[in-house]
Amino acid sequence: MYSLLFKLILTRLDPERAHHLAFAWIRRAARTRVLRTFLTAAFAPRSRYEALRTEAFGRTMHGPFGLAAGFDKNAIGIDGLTMMGFDHVEIGTVTAEPQPGNPQPRLFRLVKDRALVNRMGFNNEGSAAVAARLAARDAALGKKRSRTTVGVNIGKTKLTPESEAVADYVTSTERLAAHADYLVVNVSSPNTAGLRDLQAVGHLRPLLTAVREAADRAVTDRRVPLLVKIAPDLADEDIDAVADLAVELGLDGIIATNTTISRDGLSTDSATVEAIGAGGLSGAPLKARSLAVLRRLYARVGDRITLVGAGGVETAGDVWERILAGATLVQGYSAFIYQGPFWCSAIHRGLAERLKDSPYDTLAEAVGAGTRKAATR
Ligand SMILES: Cc1cc2nc3c(=O)[nH]c(=O)nc-3n(C[C@H](O)[C@H](O)[C@H](O)COP(=O)(O)O)c2cc1C
Repeated sequence: MYSLLFKLILTRLDPERAHHLAFAWIRRAARTRVLRTFLTAAFAPRSRYEALRTEAFGRTMHGPFGLAAGFDKNAIGIDGLTMMGFDHVEIGTVTAEPQPGNPQPRLFRLVKDRALVNRMGFNNEGSAAVAARLAARDAALGKKRSRTTVGVNIGKTKLTPESEAVADYVTSTERLAAHADYLVVNVSSPNTAGLRDLQAVGHLRPLLTAVREAADRAVTDRRVPLLVKIAPDLADEDIDAVADLAVELGLDGIIATNTTISRDGLSTDSATVEAIGAGGLSGAPLKARSLAVLRRLYARVGDRITLVGAGGVETAGDVWERILAGATLVQGYSAFIYQGPFWCSAIHRGLAERLKDSPYDTLAEAVGAGTRKAATR
């Protein structure tokens, strides 16, 4: 049904327009209580999969699977996305100041590759507006706040010079940390000039230290978990260097990975790919590299740091593979566009089956088990 809708209607619409349209439907449905209850039961049957409960960042989560950053940049649809079955929703990237992002068109489908290319450029309403929206949501939910895990992903404002990048992230942290179940320092999007240079340890150390201190100043009644999100294009030695730094600084997590600037191995013809131009590639072609980065990280940090797998995740089998490779949580984005509203529930169902057929009683036992088995073989 969705594949027909996708083929006949959605692929004819500009991808960014299709995104806004679909997201508007999701938000509208979530505002109507009867519809929300009905759709939650259809899309996110959480009570059915008790076994998928998992612990991360000091929280008990309904399951390991969530929505990666970039879908809900301004935190306008967290409850609708929860209704679709995502157990955590990472909002952003939010920058200190509001900004329009790059000129359109800036989002492209590579249907043959089940992939997307985007050069959105952190279009968002800015940290003050997003913080106010999250504060209003927190107030409305009251004690129920803990139901959905909300990650807040922050990045650098385009107009801020690189020499003032730390202050830009600190401003966002001061405004947003109180509303974050976890905070992500994004230094890996390819669409803000110079941003990925911040992954070099010499830049990353002062940045992460300053954000940690700002979060601790802003929120005194709990410790806000801090993560860093890295690119799949890092050289292996640089991945190791980030991993070592994360351990040294006592970071809570690493998200691997963001989109890639590589265009290797695509089925879409090269003229089309070239005509699209610059941007980050996501979806199926990213799968192998993101998994390899995750494996390398797990070999380096083990269970000292919580790893979050992202990049090319399409099926329950992919999620299970990331868990066995060392991910405690797993995120997806592009496959949601290609597979539609029942994507999450299919992932949950498949994951519960895999866990049942495995030698492990809990997901926690399965985290990294693939690498342990390989080591003892
Ligand atoms: C249209 C689009 C916008 C994105 N925007 C962001 C962003 O603002 N911040 C970020 O950290 N990642 C962003 N991402 C990257 C995703 O969060 C994710 O890391 C990446 O797409 C790989 O996952 P996937 O293959 O399941 O899509 C974006 C991805 C897409 C497709």
